[in-house]
Amino acid sequence: MTKRTFGVIGLAVMGENLALNVESRGFPIAVYNRSPNKTEKFMAERAVDKDIKAAYTVEEFVQLLERPRKILVMVKAGGPVDAVIDELKPLLEAGDMIIDGGNSLYEDTERRTKDLEATGLGFVGMGVSGGEEGALLGPSLMPGGTPTAYKELEPILTKIAAQVEDPDNPACVTFIGPGGAGHYVKMVHNGIEYGDMQLIAEAYDILKNGLGLSNEKLHEVFGQWNQTDELNSFLIEISTDIFAKKDPETGGHLIDYILDAAGQKGTGRWTVMSGLELGVPIPTIYAAVNARVMSSLKEERVAASGQLSGPGKTFSGDVEAWIPKVRDALYCSKMCSYAQGMALIAKASQEFGYDVNLPEIARIWKGGCIIRAGFLDKIKKAFKDNPQLPNLLLAPEFKQSILDRQGPWREVLMLANEMGIAVPAFSSSLDYFDSYRRAVLPQNLTQAQRDYFGAHTYERTDKPRGEFFHTEWLD
Ligand code: 6PG
Repeated sequence: MTKRTFGVIGLAVMGENLALNVESRGFPIAVYNRSPNKTEKFMAERAVDKDIKAAYTVEEFVQLLERPRKILVMVKAGGPVDAVIDELKPLLEAGDMIIDGGNSLYEDTERRTKDLEATGLGFVGMGVSGGEEGALLGPSLMPGGTPTAYKELEPILTKIAAQVEDPDNPACVTFIGPGGAGHYVKMVHNGIEYGDMQLIAEAYDILKNGLGLSNEKLHEVFGQWNQTDELNSFLIEISTDIFAKKDPETGGHLIDYILDAAGQKGTGRWTVMSGLELGVPIPTIYAAVNARVMSSLKEERVAASGQLSGPGKTFSGDVEAWIPKVRDALYCSKMCSYAQGMALIAKASQEFGYDVNLPEIARIWKGGCIIRAGFLDKIKKAFKDNPQLPNLLLAPEFKQSILDRQGPWREVLMLANEMGIAVPAFSSSLDYFDSYRRAVLPQNLTQAQRDYFGAHTYERTDKPRGEFFHTEWLD
């Protein structure tokens, strides 16, 4: 039997689907899963007539692979990844490579890359976005780590990735950078995903509970929004579908029966923590994570709702006139959210030596991933035209878009406030815009206070930066 080109360890649904995707592009596969039942089931149900060979020990699995061995590990992030690496390490030879396709913390990936590179092996921490369907049909791939290992993998990854229309390169994959760069960018992708999802949820809240739109009307409005250059995206598309979905049990709209307590696995929180550590403001993403936390306090909120009342105002304006304003508010907030995410990647790239190519990041997010959206073309262009762009909002296309729409954006926030509808991500986005665009902020007072109570010193507006002063405030 000829040796296998590619191996997959871990046959949960993402591992299975990626194995099938690679096989469908003409590469012979070997698979291994710790519990043999899972392997048998996969072979019997999904691998019939496919060029896939199962192994039942790690040793047998490694022997099936041609050199340099290319092994994709699709197990739970954290300890299980280290356990698989420890098992594989003594069986591999110089030049072989391990790819971790889970949502691993980039700092773990940094450590694993260093460890494995020191032994002559390659390690690629690869963000994979697109859920189950993406994994099977074409995900967006964010590989980082050992550059020579990526070169070996490139022909396979290029074939399995989502393909889009793009004059530079249709395959939604690129080498992100060394060490943990791939998982860092995937983490920020997820932070942006949290931001997008929360912004859409707030638009929904205003339209439904503010303007009183029915699910049928929401389906229609989201469907129209999905046809616009500004909002065309996977998340708007699936929201359109969601509003139309009926519940087989009750016959009503399923959305109305889904409990409002959001789960999270941690990548949004990691993004926020990294923003704080690197000193990059990402308030929209933070608001999105926080909104999920608040939503999870369901019982407490139910109890509080009986005691704390809001303004009790009902909407009495022209619904049709307000819908486009909500759309504009959503788009402005979304621009701020992406500006934050891209700024975070740029800072991490400097700080960690990743040398990330921002136009390439926008390009590989155009297809396959959860945040795929029409306006990523504009983001790509913005960073291509000016690689030193300090903030997306300063790119000509975005600057004008936000300036043209800030009126309705502010009106929508006032409406939400008047009606007592919480819009944390919309508000954080507007605050981001209003802070970023102002030459002077009130932190002169903060500095005075710090100096007053702690002699922390301050700089002066009439002296060069870097000169520090202290005042005896009580004299
Ligand atoms: C993707 C998703 C994927 C997964 C998230 C969900 O890009 O395909 O981001 O990685 O759905 O882990 O994250 P939460 O459970 O935290 O919402």
